Amino acid sequence: MKHLIDPTDLTVEETQEIIDLALDIIANRAKYSEKCKGKKLATLFYEPSTRTRLSFTAAMMELGGNVLGFADAASSSVSKGETVRDTVRVVENFADIIAMRHHIEGAQLAATEVSRVPIINAGDGSHAHPTQTLTDLLTITRELGRLDNLTIGFCGDLRFGRTVHSLIKAMSRQKGIKIVLIAPPQLRLPDYIKQDVCDRLGLEYKEVDTLEEAMPELDVLYMTRVQKERFLDEDEYEAVKDSFVLDCDKMKLAKEKMAVLHPLPRVNEILEEVDADPRAAYFRQVENGKFVRMALISSLLDWKDDPKHEMPVEEEVEVPDNLRCENKKCITRNEKSPRRAYRASDGSLRCRYCDHKFK
Ligand code: NCD
Repeated sequence: MKHLIDPTDLTVEETQEIIDLALDIIANRAKYSEKCKGKKLATLFYEPSTRTRLSFTAAMMELGGNVLGFADAASSSVSKGETVRDTVRVVENFADIIAMRHHIEGAQLAATEVSRVPIINAGDGSHAHPTQTLTDLLTITRELGRLDNLTIGFCGDLRFGRTVHSLIKAMSRQKGIKIVLIAPPQLRLPDYIKQDVCDRLGLEYKEVDTLEEAMPELDVLYMTRVQKERFLDEDEYEAVKDSFVLDCDKMKLAKEKMAVLHPLPRVNEILEEVDADPRAAYFRQVENGKFVRMALISSLLDWKDDPKHEMPVEEEVEVPDNLRCENKKCITRNEKSPRRAYRASDGSLRCRYCDHKFK
């Protein structure tokens, strides 16, 4: 059975299959209106969301299926102390597929350990957001006609921005990709992405201090919101919140054919004056999110009993008894969990659930 917890759970071919299916859905909407008739999607959202949850809901409705779930963990049994694994053991009796968002990192991977139905990660803390990545890949395809040979600028909160982490991972598997990182020192990309994704896979990247410097060479500019809710200290947030703002003057420095993406919501990192620029793709990106989720839901349901579509097999490394994941927001620190690890390129042990180190 195939779940989508990390973008690399899908092979490059499966990813392309989903994008191609989304393009076919866009071209032939009526053909898919009963594709998931009689099927149910459960949306379990333990963390606030507007577009992602509505996008999943609209996607399943357009496939002729039904949706149930909760948008607020306070109204579910979670508030009584139920574990993620138990919640999934219950919900799998009511739904054919589950989309889950959680503030605890690795919660969805834990869910896959017990689930009899496909689990989709709709965002786990500041870790990963693979359905946003599929949305981004479809958007880049539609805006620029390709996924390879691109220079992509990532700007804003590269530390806590889960959409950035997942898109870089997915892009590391394409040819001819160059990455330009534009972030204040406090919000730089986590080491595990730099070392174990960029360095290990030979993805070229550089860090620059200003948007002006980066603009002329970019094919894609991926803007992000500073993730206020992930800061432990309000002053730290205040100090960086307006570090980079995209306006029409900066757009003048960009190529004529390029695309500005943003997973939304924006706060003030893109001025409204940019919205009228034909290169501003972020509202088209929202609609692509619905189409790609239609393609994903229907593929995961179709693939469920097909041995050709299994999860990648990962080597498990034994973790010494005295070590635990350093990340307080990891599922292993919040619910009874096995400790699962892989060996990073620098030889250290990293947590399979959240990619942080063991200490
Ligand atoms: C993003 C998220 O939730 O990580 N939004 C989304 O899924 N559309 C980005 C964000 O919240 O800034």
